[in-house]
Amino acid sequence: MTPLDYEFLRKLLKERSGLDLSSDKQYLVESRLIPLARRVGLGGIAELVQKIKGGAEALTSEVVEAMTTNETFFFRDKIPFDHLREAVLPALIQARAGRRSLRIWCAASSTGQEPYSIAMCVKEFASLAGWRVEIVATDLSQAVLEKSKAGIFSQFEVQRGLPIQMLVKHFTQVGELWQLNADIRAMVQHRQLNLLQDVSHLGTFDVIFCRNVLIYFDQDTKVGIFDRLSRMLESDGVLALGAAESVVGISDAFKPYPERRGLYCLNAARTARGGVVSMMPHALKAVASAAR
Ligand SMILES: C[S@@+](CC[C@H](N)C(=O)[O-])C[C@H]1O[C@@H](n2cnc3c(N)ncnc32)[C@H](O)[C@@H]1O
Repeated sequence: MTPLDYEFLRKLLKERSGLDLSSDKQYLVESRLIPLARRVGLGGIAELVQKIKGGAEALTSEVVEAMTTNETFFFRDKIPFDHLREAVLPALIQARAGRRSLRIWCAASSTGQEPYSIAMCVKEFASLAGWRVEIVATDLSQAVLEKSKAGIFSQFEVQRGLPIQMLVKHFTQVGELWQLNADIRAMVQHRQLNLLQDVSHLGTFDVIFCRNVLIYFDQDTKVGIFDRLSRMLESDGVLALGAAESVVGISDAFKPYPERRGLYCLNAARTARGGVVSMMPHALKAVASAAR
């Protein structure tokens, strides 16, 4: 790949998906895009770049998707799901007892293991029976969303992080594969969505999982995403980030939740009309006392 083609692709990926490639990642681009070029009948990256420059929009989207990293597994890192069960859901069940509804957004949901792990946690709460619980799974990549919607996983995938009791309870074996049962699949709605764009049409959420995607973005991109997320979180809502991600030094809209590593709450909650209300979220007060 020529240096010029690499620079063109780096800029394109940064603009389209936020992916911030350093100057030495040619091998990564080649390993993902040469097979793609061959599959669509092109000779290599130079021809791919020419097509993109010529306005081949569908091909450009394929290139952007091919460069996403979709690594995920059930109950990844375990701790966020412990927090969800032990603190976040119990507190929200109290705080939302009046309206009996919850909205949870899994903001980079990949092939579904994360939103379905959330759904399995929600299902454990008998007290949520009869509530309207929406779990919205979004990702830039249509391909991963299609796999997620099907809810079919390989033996290898169900062996990564999924407790055996959950496998037995929530999955049905289909040949060598495992399909999530319809009740859990029905708890998750899927939408294609780019975190770089205005996503406020999704509404506001009580819990946002945005894990293991910000690591691919530069500081300015993270600042913009945290700003958007802060406007989409209920004043007493909770944001969960990945183990290598943090708001520290990037956004003062959020503060780390004490004793609950990886969880954040709003510093100053914004009202739906954009005003700023300074408050200690009441659901999180309950989480705080539960943690003590
Ligand atoms: C490494 S996976 C993380 C999956 C899951 N959150 C987890 O922690 O296991 C990152 C996901 O972010 C998605 N992604 C990358 N850039 C994105 C963007 N700009 N908007 C939305 N999703 C994006 C990728 O397609 C990929 O599925």
